[in-house]
This record gives sequence, structure tokens and C-alpha cells, in this order.
Amino acid sequence: MQIAIFDTHAFDRLALTAANERYGFDLTFFEPRLTSTTATLAAGFRVVCPFVNDRLDADALTLLHRGGARLIALRSAGYNHVDLRAAATLGLPVVRVPEYSPYAVAEHAAALMLALNRKIHRAFSRVREANFSLDGLVGFDVHGKTVGVVGTGRIGAVMARIMCGFGCRVLASDIQPNEQLANELPLRYVDLPELYRESDIVSLHVPLTPATRHLIDATALRYMKRGVMLINTGRGALIDTRALIDALKRGHVGAAGLDVYEEEEGIFFRDLSDQVLQDDVLARLLTFPNVLVTSHQAFLTTEALANIAGTTLANVRAFERGEVLLNEVRAEHVLRDV
Ligand code: NAI
Repeated sequence: MQIAIFDTHAFDRLALTAANERYGFDLTFFEPRLTSTTATLAAGFRVVCPFVNDRLDADALTLLHRGGARLIALRSAGYNHVDLRAAATLGLPVVRVPEYSPYAVAEHAAALMLALNRKIHRAFSRVREANFSLDGLVGFDVHGKTVGVVGTGRIGAVMARIMCGFGCRVLASDIQPNEQLANELPLRYVDLPELYRESDIVSLHVPLTPATRHLIDATALRYMKRGVMLINTGRGALIDTRALIDALKRGHVGAAGLDVYEEEEGIFFRDLSDQVLQDDVLARLLTFPNVLVTSHQAFLTTEALANIAGTTLANVRAFERGEVLLNEVRAEHVLRDV
């Protein structure tokens, strides 16, 4: 079975090659992102394996199908970058990796929170310049603070546990509350306005769907406490970035830790250090001392990469054998989330 792997990075190549020792598939690694412009590279491949910032719109999917693709094997949990209706019309099944390490992502959310609070990013630069002053580095005790976890699926549940471990009061919101979690942890489900009003820190762990796009807009931000810390390791478009910038400028948002950005496609995962950054909104975000942006790296642990590679190839094996595709994602799944 020939598999065309797009947006390949050194870490993917290593993990997929290691996982493939068990399967013996014919892997071809392409560096470009998969879009309607690059889709013809996959001509002749039955399986196409895109990454999280590839764009599988109707045009790209049609070209892939015309080129012989019969399975789209996403090496991500999120599937908001795929036009699932177009895939269904073409009869192209889409499989994903629903879970690879909720710990990787939740731990990164906690890392952003702690680094921002104690201003580690600023302290690191200062000390390297032999500036040992402490002015402007005052943080707060996380212990005793109220943390709002939006979305208590796999990742949000781990985040809630971590925050309980810090001695925080944890409020949660989810369209499908996790009763077991609520029984196990000192956690309370509340509606979103209450979560916003009460929380010192808000961390986002819902998928991007039509219902969650710009979940954090100017109105939601107005509900939040002055000085709130916002953490987003979900998807960039959960936040209306312009509204966030406005709230940061007014000091209403005290800090923002962002692993994702709504216009990250074509920017994140690339070394653009010798170019002029063309995205003015991102450029503005990067000027704030109280904003920490990472380049969609929350998933990036050895364990997560091994799991992503293993499940991706297991999905392909199930397809090859004509078995039920347990990790298939369909258009109606998105509608269920709305
Ligand atoms: P999950 O499916 O286990 O949990 C998502 C939760 O969100 C579910 O409990 C669901 O009921 C809830 N939800 C869905 N729509 C909602 C709405 N409108 N309002 C309130 N709650 C809603 O997903 P998981 O594994 O926890 O991942 C969450 C998201 O994290 C993914 O969809 C993905 O976008 C993002 N992610 C980011 C990564 C990164 O590297 N930054 C890596 C992996 C995932």
C-alpha cells in the first residue's frame, strides 16, 4: 500500500518510519502542505496522509480522488481542515487519530500558564543579557485561583486534574458534562457566562466547529474578570483574535498563552525568520509582553508522535483489510458537535 505523507517534518519521518517496521507500507514523504495546488503530487497513491494545517477543501479532495486516493488518513485529532461533506460525496473515507496523548496537550497548556504567570519568557531573555533585576516579574500563586476549563473531553479532563493538583478551584463547561470526572474531582460544571465571570484563568479544550468558532469574542471577553489569563491549545479560531488584541490593549485580558492562531496555516511549522512577517494581526500579538505564542506544538512529545504514527498506520491497515474503520470521521459528527 502506497501512502503519500504531506507536510512532513523530521519528527514525522522518524516516528512514521519506526512505526512502519510493523506494517511495511510504502511511505513517500512530501514536504509541501497539501492544498488544491499540491494535491496532484499524490497521483497514483491510494492513501493520503495530511497534517493539521493542510487544506482539504472540495477542490483538493476532488483532485486526490481523481488521482486514485481512496482513503484520507489524518495524522491529527482535529478534522476542521477537511470538507467532510465533499469527502462523503466523493465516497472518500476520512480517518483520524482521536487520541494520542491528552497529557502532551494539557501539560503544554499548563506550561504556558505557568510561564506567563511567572514571566519565565521575559526572565530567560533578561538573565542572558546579564539583567538580573526582578522588576516587572511579579506573578501570583496559582494555588487557590479559579480555573475555567472549557471542554472536558480527553484533554480538558487531564487539564482539570492538573489544576486540581495545583489546589485550584476548577469550574468546567461542556455540552456533554463528564459525570465521572465531576464525581472524582472537586470540580463544578457551570454555564459559560458563570465560568467567564468567576475564572482567573480560562483554558480552551473544545474542538473547532461552527458552534465554537469565535467562542471567545468581544462579548465573552466582557464577561471575564479584568486581568484574566486566557490559554488556547484548542484551535486558533476559537478566539476572535482582533477582539483579544483589543482586550489586551485595554488591560482587560491580563495574559494570553496561545499555541494556536486562527490564521496559522502557512505560518506555523515554518522557519520564516529571514522574511518580513506579512500577518499584521499576529505581528501585533507578538509585541505584547504578556502574550506567549507557541507554534502549534502542544502535541509534540515523543509519546504522542509514536501514538500518532502507530494509529495512523493501523487505520490504513484496517482500510486495506476492508475492516470497519473505527476512527472514521463523518460530516454528521461535526453536526452533532454543533
Ligand atoms: P474530545 O473530543 O475528547 O473533547 C472535546 C470536548 O469538547 C467534548 O467533551 C465535547 O463534548 C466538548 N464540546 C464540543 N463542542 C462543544 C461546545 N460547543 N461547547 C462546549 N463543549 C463542547 O477532544 P480532545 O481530544 O480533548 O481535544 C480537544 C481539541 O484540542 C481538539 O478538537 C483539537 O482541536 C485540539 N488539539 C490541539 C492540539 C495541539 O497540538 N494544540 C493537539 C490535539 C488536539
